Amino acid sequence: MRLKDRVAIITGAGSGMGRADSLLFAREGAKVVVNDINQKNIDGVVKEIEGAGGEALGYKADVTKMDEVEAMVEETVKRYGKVDILVSNAGWDELRPFLHTDRGFWDKILNLNLLGHMNCVKAVLPHMLKNKYGKIVTIGSDAGRLGNPMEAPYAAAKGGVIAFTKTIAREFGRANITANCVCPGITETPLAEQMISAIPEKEKALKMMETVRKVTPMGRLAKPEDVAGAVIFFASDDSSFVTGQVISVSGGLSTP
Ligand SMILES: NC(=O)c1ccc[n+]([C@@H]2O[C@H](COP(=O)([O-])OP(=O)(O)OC[C@H]3O[C@@H](n4cnc5c(N)ncnc54)[C@H](O)[C@@H]3O)[C@@H](O)[C@H]2O)c1
Repeated sequence: MRLKDRVAIITGAGSGMGRADSLLFAREGAKVVVNDINQKNIDGVVKEIEGAGGEALGYKADVTKMDEVEAMVEETVKRYGKVDILVSNAGWDELRPFLHTDRGFWDKILNLNLLGHMNCVKAVLPHMLKNKYGKIVTIGSDAGRLGNPMEAPYAAAKGGVIAFTKTIAREFGRANITANCVCPGITETPLAEQMISAIPEKEKALKMMETVRKVTPMGRLAKPEDVAGAVIFFASDDSSFVTGQVISVSGGLSTP
């Protein structure tokens, strides 16, 4: 078991990639704090984990609110005594041409997709420092490495997540805390479906998805489980001397 007796907080764990990470981590022996803003989905994932014989604690908190994040971390430490792993995964976007975005939309996107990660990392670090052990995995996006039309504020936030993660890696390496960033390409999750169905020109969006599928060397889009495989590498001691790194999970669509 790769995560035996480890305690992991996974944000945005009620759906998509966070759910897949939670199920995999629990199978690998971790006690998983399943965080989301959707209580019904939290309960569903906790039930799945417990049904498979794993250990989980559901915790509803909004990662954009520091007081809620801090309360979640305190509850985790109270329940399990420590926090070994943070998978900072919660995120959201809506495809919009840049000129159709405004300051209100930028604030919403940056609050969740950049500052939400900073809240979570700041809240777990004191506990990781105390134990001289920590594995921080942020979920970025290939949009943040490469840029992507109709995702300017989101790409800016995810680019920020990459730079933030590298900085945490440099600042906390001597405390035996690693920080790495997983950047998925298009992944078949409820978010991707939502983003496509929100576009007025659906035909165009579906055609674009088909083109991405065709030009991807591995000939398909990612599944949440594909991403979870990269996340658990960075969350486990398999990556004991790997920090400040960014990995693209995109079937070879983008190469460094
Ligand atoms: N799906 C893709 O194509 C894709 C590609 C690249 C990167 N990503 C990133 O991957 C991560 C996971 O996305 P997904 O596709 O699994 O999405 P998803 O919508 O399936 O899951 C995201 C979860 O985050 C939760 N969430 C949203 N706001 C929250 C908040 N403020 N606090 C706590 N939880 C919150 C949602 O309720 C949802 O359950 C996100 O960071 C996303 O930006 C997704």
